[in-house]
Amino acid sequence: MGKNILITGGAGFIGSHVVRLMVTKYPQYQIFNLDALTYAGNLENLKDIEKAANYHFLKANILEADALKAIFEKHAITDVIHLAAESHVDRSIVSPLDFVYTNVIGTVNLLNTAKEFWKGDLSYEKAHDGSWEKNRNHIFYHISTDEVYGSLGKEGLFKETTAYDPNSPYSASKAASDHFVRAYGETYHLPYVVSNCSNNYGPNHFPEKLIPLFIHNIINKKALPVYGDGLYTRDWLYVIDHARAIDIIFHQGKNGDTYNIGGFNEWTNIDLVKLMCAQMDVKLGRAVGESESLITYVKDRPGHDRRYAIDATKLNKELGWSPSVTFEQGLAATIDWYLNNGPWLENVTSGSYQTYYSSMYTNR
Ligand code: NAD
Ligand code: DAU
Repeated sequence: MGKNILITGGAGFIGSHVVRLMVTKYPQYQIFNLDALTYAGNLENLKDIEKAANYHFLKANILEADALKAIFEKHAITDVIHLAAESHVDRSIVSPLDFVYTNVIGTVNLLNTAKEFWKGDLSYEKAHDGSWEKNRNHIFYHISTDEVYGSLGKEGLFKETTAYDPNSPYSASKAASDHFVRAYGETYHLPYVVSNCSNNYGPNHFPEKLIPLFIHNIINKKALPVYGDGLYTRDWLYVIDHARAIDIIFHQGKNGDTYNIGGFNEWTNIDLVKLMCAQMDVKLGRAVGESESLITYVKDRPGHDRRYAIDATKLNKELGWSPSVTFEQGLAATIDWYLNNGPWLENVTSGSYQTYYSSMYTNR
């Protein structure tokens, strides 16, 4: 069946992989990539599919409600996959309001637009009486993060039932947007699904986040700023496996449900950085230990969450998803991609780009 799917944030890191997958796998769908092209959005990420007959780019900002309404009407949007966001924790510490605007207000603008545009198709019977699934002819799919759950101690995993406990302005803004999506489901019967994913890595990742920043710095023999004691733990997932999960949840996720997505792949930052250094020494023909000597411990990130770890059992059991690559394979492919795409890296690191390490940490 044909669909007109609005994917927001499609020029960004994860969005570009989702757009590519949907455009190439589903020629019967029209894919509308809505993106404001902030510092994190880059149409180079989609160069290979930009001429596909079912791909359309729309430069717009989710803060502009009138533009959203016009887009829904002009293109008869049937479904939304919402990724557009401010996504970097360090930036949220410096400029929290930017995160409130795009992540909270922008999301509510989109929800309002979808609710109004689809209202003739939605059942307004009682939400939990079994008629709920009737509204599945449309879906508002909100892409979220495991950071909404806060921080774990040494043991345990985030489950879909874990209470929200966000600690950074970024995670607070994502938690707020998740709550608004659920509230629109309950109040207006807007059909929705939410997924909360762990740390992604892979091609097209802007070099301000740990893995791409450190790859960039290793190539350029620059310091590798490890925050605090380096024993913070993250669960890493290859971005293409996230895109695969989004495809499955978009098509089969239950209306009103939440799915956790993760790699069952926990690493302390310092172990991960050492693995990257070792892989890159080999690839760059450098002496063993040369890149590791760039590691520099710096002042910690304020409110730094100690450990994230996702339990993705529900997604595996109910919808059959599991990661397709090991971390070693994914990391090697990621490093190769950056080594083979020097112009991309040059392009995104020129201009006004700066790491937030330089603005936040050096003077404290
Ligand atoms: P990104 O920063 O690489 O890309 C965000 C995209 O959104 C960019 O293309 C940008 O131009 C666009 N955008 C930003 N503000 C906009 C606005 N006001 N209107 C329209 N477009 C706008 O982000 P990412 O890492 O690809 O993350 C995508 C989504 O996935 C986000 O919602 C993020 O919270 C979520 N997420 C990310 C990760 C991760 O590890 N990166 C993990 C879990 C969830
Ligand atoms: O968990 C999912 C989240 O993962 C996403 O929702 C976010 O959008 C994404 O940015 C990511 O958030 P993190 O804060 O975990 O990612 P980041 O790459 O910024 O940091 C990863 C870890 O590395 C974290 O413990 C902080 C540390 N770090 C990061 C940078 C940039 C450093 O030690 N040094 C650095 O320079």
